Amino acid sequence: MKDAAIQTMSYTLDASQNRQDFLSYPNPIDLREIQGIVARGYGNLPAACYGLFHIKTPDLARPTLIELQSKLTYAEERPPLLAINLAWTYRGLRQMGLDENIADQFSNEFRSGIDTNHKRRILGDEGRNSPEFWDWGGPNSSPIDLLLLCYAVDQASLEHEYQNLKQTLAESGIEEVRRLDTQVLPDNKEHFGFRDGIAQPFLKEFDRKGRDLVAVPLGEILLGYPNGYDRYTQRPLIAAELDTASQLPPDPEGSPTRDLGKNGTYLVFRQMSQDIPAFWRYLQEQTSSSEEAVRLASKMVGRWPSGAPLVLSPEEDNTAIKDKDAFTYHDTDRQGFKCPLGAHIRRTHPRDSLQPEPGSEKSIAFSNRHRLLRRGRSYGAPFHPSVNPTEYLKQLSGTAYPEESPEKSSEDRGLHFICINANIGRQFEFVQHTWANNPNFNGLYQDPDPIIGSRSAYGLPQNRFTQQQPPVRCQFSGMPEFVGIRGGGYFFLPSRSALAFILSRGASA
Ligand code: HEM
Repeated sequence: MKDAAIQTMSYTLDASQNRQDFLSYPNPIDLREIQGIVARGYGNLPAACYGLFHIKTPDLARPTLIELQSKLTYAEERPPLLAINLAWTYRGLRQMGLDENIADQFSNEFRSGIDTNHKRRILGDEGRNSPEFWDWGGPNSSPIDLLLLCYAVDQASLEHEYQNLKQTLAESGIEEVRRLDTQVLPDNKEHFGFRDGIAQPFLKEFDRKGRDLVAVPLGEILLGYPNGYDRYTQRPLIAAELDTASQLPPDPEGSPTRDLGKNGTYLVFRQMSQDIPAFWRYLQEQTSSSEEAVRLASKMVGRWPSGAPLVLSPEEDNTAIKDKDAFTYHDTDRQGFKCPLGAHIRRTHPRDSLQPEPGSEKSIAFSNRHRLLRRGRSYGAPFHPSVNPTEYLKQLSGTAYPEESPEKSSEDRGLHFICINANIGRQFEFVQHTWANNPNFNGLYQDPDPIIGSRSAYGLPQNRFTQQQPPVRCQFSGMPEFVGIRGGGYFFLPSRSALAFILSRGASA
């Protein structure tokens, strides 16, 4: 890694910042510059909502957005009560007057957005999941410029803060398009009943425990640092004379330009509704007891409901496993007898199992070029308050599958999937397209990711799940879609300096 990339920055600091603290901070990266959601998921702030906004009158909006800057939360602090982060669509940046020749240096994926014809093919957003049916973010819904991510210690504080913000924004012509609420489920579970948020890319710059693990290069998650190819990911670089207030850091690659991307990144948002009755009824139909149904569901996920990985505990759930992320696939489970080759976690992060040299450091490095920092939260009331698969199965007994199921038409629930990555094409889109939607992943045939994979490819159905086992594999077919897409967008999460620069552009004299 080049030294310049980890040097402490020496450009002008905001007057409100304490230079002494900043210089004495032990971390080589400037945590004051990075929006907090990159460093932490705000697990101590269980109440959360996301506001999608549209800027009607940029000149009216500007002073309010300039004021909003001081409310945003950065990685240096772990706020005990409230955190606010702000992300932008390409449209929003242009709307605020960011010059075309600067904005056009953002990645192609970000600029063209998530709902183009090309993207629907890549992401598998076809049929009822097509962007024209989305509640937000698609061609038939209101344009979105801003995403406000709000987190609070309790619901009352969240309400108070969000309503105040919404009103202030509305007074300056920034209109709420939609508010997305979240729901904390017991034991950090998602709605299907499995513990979520366990495995994350290890970034040593954000590690508070000094662990000695294989690290993902910071440039995979943040712009302006060397990535997994030891290169700098594409980002807007600006002629120094345009940065009149010397707000932006110098280009770490040494050119005379200023780096608008550094310490910023991209945030991918997918609202994914989860059909709990369809999932558990399918499993009930394929098995002869609730134990077997839970076992098959765990095979699909790659973890037991408690989060214990199948690779470490293949026969039964095991709550005693402490480090639930300490495993690889090649040496322990080459053939997928423990964790099936097409399981959700084995596809979305194949660890050391990729060709051409599975089991090698090279294989891990390859996999690490497609990592996602997940920051999503569930929404909607749980199907059963316990979020326990056995209770789900009990509750489902006796109801018809699935159209007549009374639960199906009840309240929408699912996951506000949020992930952070420096390269949307090589990370999020690759994982969804080349691994999750791929019917031939890992030598399989007609098998999508059982949780998030598209159920058709090239116009043909792909709805099978294969469980490798001796002496012969076991296949489950006719697997319906368990997850639907309700909305989505690609956002830029700017650094503190980049945001100040963006808001200084396009202001009328
Ligand atoms: C409703 C949708 C989804 C559900 C219910 C779901 C559920 C889960 C669960 C239960 C885990 C295991 C817990 C953990 O390792 O943290 C997991 C892991 C993971 N999921 Fe998902 N997920 C969903 C969507 C997605 C999407 C859209 C992607 C990416 C395109 C994705 C990528 C991942 C990754 C990368 C991991 C970690 C794998 C590892 O490092 O071992 N998930 N998911």
